[in-house]
Amino acid sequence: MGTPHNEAASGAFAKTVLMPGDPLRAKFIAETFLENAQLVNNVRGIQGYTGTYQGTRVSVMASGMGMPSIGIYSHELFHVYDVDNIIRIGSAGAISPKLKLRDVVLAQGACTDSNYAHQFGLGGTFAPIADFTLLETAVAVARRMGVEPPVGNLLSSDVFYNKAGDTMKWGEMGVLAIEMEAAALYYNAAEAGKRALAMCTISDSLVTGEELPPAERQTTFTRMIEIALGVAVEMDKKG
Ligand code: HPA
Repeated sequence: MGTPHNEAASGAFAKTVLMPGDPLRAKFIAETFLENAQLVNNVRGIQGYTGTYQGTRVSVMASGMGMPSIGIYSHELFHVYDVDNIIRIGSAGAISPKLKLRDVVLAQGACTDSNYAHQFGLGGTFAPIADFTLLETAVAVARRMGVEPPVGNLLSSDVFYNKAGDTMKWGEMGVLAIEMEAAALYYNAAEAGKRALAMCTISDSLVTGEELPPAERQTTFTRMIEIALGVAVEMDKKG
């Protein structure tokens, strides 16, 4: 058992896995929110933990940055570890004036400038979308917490330092924010017949140039983590 990227034993992951980009955030979530968290993977420092949250078994593992990286880890979680639900919890830059710093955006869809979908040999454009059950559960959990989350399209880009200067055109098409992973996760979930949802906290705005102060990141990310963990609990109840 195991893969070149994951040394966890069979059954080591819960049915729902939360995926932040950063391994240190995975560690923080495991230590802060989970009970009896066990480190199940640490290949390349991509820390993965399984523990319980409000009595529900939940895992958290880093995805790394970019579509190739989340593509590898999510493929293995779905196909090798029989994970049912992956919830990406990341950060994104606003490209719509409708979004404010600290908003938690739920990615109903994920546009992309990547060629990732080429592998599927489709003669057209596949629309990478969130699983509806995860999406509606996340909206319900957020509302219960008094949060009205923006829901819409993200742009999953292969480039952080974009020379083309076309990013804001996506904003003109109603795309809310830019990040680098959601589309690969949605493609992989579709291929595997599993469920995925990406949610992102707005850490910066390409519209206004504002950035979240580092000290404040922790508190805003906490709200997103609690929404994602709440979804894991609700999915467990649904069986
Ligand atoms: N670009 C890509 N990914 C991001 C950004 C961004 O501006 N902000 C947070 N994640």
